Amino acid sequence: MKFMPSLQDLAARVSLISESSTLKVFADADRLRREGKDVVDFSAGEPDFPTPDNIKKAAIKALDENFTKYTVASGTPELKQAVCDHHKNLYGTSYVPKECIITVGGKHAIFNLAQVMLDEGDEVIIPVPYWVTFKDVVNYAGGKCVFVDTDEREGFALHASAVERAITPKTKMIILNSPSNPSGALFPRAELEKIFRIAKDRGIWIMADECYERFLYDSQPFSLASLPDAKDTVLVAGSLSKTYAMTGWRIGFVLGPAPVIAALGKLQSHETSNPTSIAQKAAVEALRGPQDSVASMLGEYLKRRDYVVGRLRAIPGVTVHNPQGAFYVYPNVSAAYKKGSTNSLEFAAKLLEEEFVALVPGEAFGTNDHIRISYATSLHELGRGMDRLERFIKGRLS
Ligand SMILES: Cc1ncc(COP(=O)(O)O)c(C=O)c1O
Repeated sequence: MKFMPSLQDLAARVSLISESSTLKVFADADRLRREGKDVVDFSAGEPDFPTPDNIKKAAIKALDENFTKYTVASGTPELKQAVCDHHKNLYGTSYVPKECIITVGGKHAIFNLAQVMLDEGDEVIIPVPYWVTFKDVVNYAGGKCVFVDTDEREGFALHASAVERAITPKTKMIILNSPSNPSGALFPRAELEKIFRIAKDRGIWIMADECYERFLYDSQPFSLASLPDAKDTVLVAGSLSKTYAMTGWRIGFVLGPAPVIAALGKLQSHETSNPTSIAQKAAVEALRGPQDSVASMLGEYLKRRDYVVGRLRAIPGVTVHNPQGAFYVYPNVSAAYKKGSTNSLEFAAKLLEEEFVALVPGEAFGTNDHIRISYATSLHELGRGMDRLERFIKGRLS
């Protein structure tokens, strides 16, 4: 009999994950653009700024010096030291290179952490709204997501009491992402400290996703790993993607106890091997070189946040909190949902179809009443997109 490949041949675990909804919106918008439509894109989760010149030059130098071969699979000692020093300078932590692994972006760090930490049935607490990937990486590792609500009226604040109520004997890990994608919420430090204590007392791990650590508008960066005795229960997942506008370079890292890092290293040695050699050289320059580009990007994001929040607040029926960090705003637009199709998917699909504005429906992040707008785009584009969004919502309300 002739061999016919079929979808049924796929490993069962593939059905545990779905395509990233943010990347799907990106693909739909791209299709419309290729059809010649004038699309305004609020879906991108990446800085619109170029990678700073000093970082690009370091990569060019690495190429010129033929730094183009395999490196140690877990990353160069030079970059690990730079990550540890950087974390120490920002937060006063004391990691050493054997407590650090360099990964192929922050997503890789989180995926591999789930793979080495979770057994079948382990429960992982995830605050809602959540970044899409958390759910899928936990599911793919055989874990079980336990979602905890945040308080929208308090800007999606996470309360330690809610986390505590969700804990069961099977809880293995809590994932915290502050400032948050998609809400831009910053979890209050006092609550984070309480959550840390609750977790520590019960032997529960915390994965702290610090992807947006430097994009804070009204407060200083804080890392859970800087709390006394945090080093043996907090796993820091970091990324250079957003901070240094390096999304395409694919450099992230994990800081954590040496045995966890060794397990990650074992996995990575059979999986990707080292992150790209020249990108690692560029990352050393990003962390050790001048940091003024970070401050200037933050200044731009602040202007854009204020603009978008101001525009949203002027639209009837829309409620929105002021994001404290990252570059997303997460308004509640449910007043403009059509009767009978009360969901953010329909809203986002129609907005793209009728007004050519691409954004991600809240459904992707676990809440149905919201949409995510990324303001990592120029004020000009924000203005055009907000005009269209306003027209669209007013049309649905009338
Ligand atoms: C919350 C969060 N964590 C981690 C990442 C990973 O970023 P990267 O894999 O590009 O380093 C992202 C990217 O969108 C994110 O939003």
